[in-house]
Amino acid sequence: MSLSVRPAPHPLRGRLRVPGDKSVSHRAVLFGALARGTTHITGLLEGEDVLATLAAVRALGCEASTTRVTGAPWRDAGLLDCGNSGTTARLMLGALAPRAGATLDGDTSLRRRPMRRVLDPLARMGAVFTGGPGLPITVERRRLSGVVVEATVASAQVKSAVLLAGLGAEGETRYVEPVATRDHTERMLLAMGAPLRREGQAIVVTEGVLDAISVTVPGDISSAAFWMVAAAIVPGSDLVIENVGLNPTRTGILDVLRAMGADIEVEPAPGSASAAEPFGTVRVRGGGLRGTRVAGALIPRLIDEIPVLAVAAAFAEGETTFADAAELRVKESDRVATTVAGLRALGVDADARPDGLVVRGAPDSGPFPGATPIETAGDHRIAMAFAIAGLRLGAEVRDTDCIATSYPTFSSTLARFAGA
Ligand code: S3P
Repeated sequence: MSLSVRPAPHPLRGRLRVPGDKSVSHRAVLFGALARGTTHITGLLEGEDVLATLAAVRALGCEASTTRVTGAPWRDAGLLDCGNSGTTARLMLGALAPRAGATLDGDTSLRRRPMRRVLDPLARMGAVFTGGPGLPITVERRRLSGVVVEATVASAQVKSAVLLAGLGAEGETRYVEPVATRDHTERMLLAMGAPLRREGQAIVVTEGVLDAISVTVPGDISSAAFWMVAAAIVPGSDLVIENVGLNPTRTGILDVLRAMGADIEVEPAPGSASAAEPFGTVRVRGGGLRGTRVAGALIPRLIDEIPVLAVAAAFAEGETTFADAAELRVKESDRVATTVAGLRALGVDADARPDGLVVRGAPDSGPFPGATPIETAGDHRIAMAFAIAGLRLGAEVRDTDCIATSYPTFSSTLARFAGA
């Protein structure tokens, strides 16, 4: 499918909600499948990625729907199809290693993504894999022992895989992060009673059991990001996004849009600071944007938002640089390449760097006569980022079925606010 987006005929105004957080949704299903009892879930994202995790836990012997997951001892499964979902594949590798055997596979994008970062620490714990280094990979159930992992890549997926393995391993597993990454795993495991503690940049877990809880999944800030940028780049806009997850390990986009001069108000929901995952309302009004530099410890706090932030940068005064973000190259597509190619297709001045990109903004730019269609490489965030660019520049975005992996209702919300 393709999406044709015409420049917004009027400012974007009103209130909206976005579907549940993808990271929290995966964890609710997977950890629920490991827990004693039935985990009740409200607001689960029904995107293809999360449905892949749901199908996997069913194949492992658990009863699971989009609202209830009942844990059970895992039985060996045959093939588990992770589709496009890196989170399913990486978290499952760690969860399976001490508990059950299975073969994990995925689509052509997922088969290309690096898995050694997960296999290596798990193998040090005693896990046994065949195949690899990319999917398909077969895991055999083994008794594991805790180790110290000094991670070199900042990855919440690797951290989560090691902690899940550690929860089923003898002794103590200590995972040390180079830079803090999203901490949904730690929060949910603690809420489920896991023997886990934080010690500075280290997370320590010992063998233990989980107890079922009720999980309320907040709206995904990574999906809200598209509307935040839409409001920031279409003059006169005023969007209020309700029920957005505000976990501080995910809110880098708010810091960056503010640094760029966007008018942003955040109102945490009453009492939500003490909830497992904080959430609240975000209001964004359009205004003049200026370029900025995005690097260092900020990167893991907004890694999935860089394509759409690069779109915001296209309408900012001056240059915006994204650095220390080489991880972009191993996401659902090489997002440095796909973002720069998309921007250039719309006449935006942008260059790739080994660890990021540079965008030279033009605040007054409108449709570019030589524009060519955007190729998404099957990457949902690229598809949605360039649909948002279309609200200023007009865009024909090809191969947009992938949007269903994380945000199945995106196109209808776009039509509602921008008549696209
Ligand atoms: C995720 C972690 C991030 C992010 C991905 C989801 C998770 O990847 O890009 O979309 O749910 O743990 P990293 O493992 O690189 O942090």
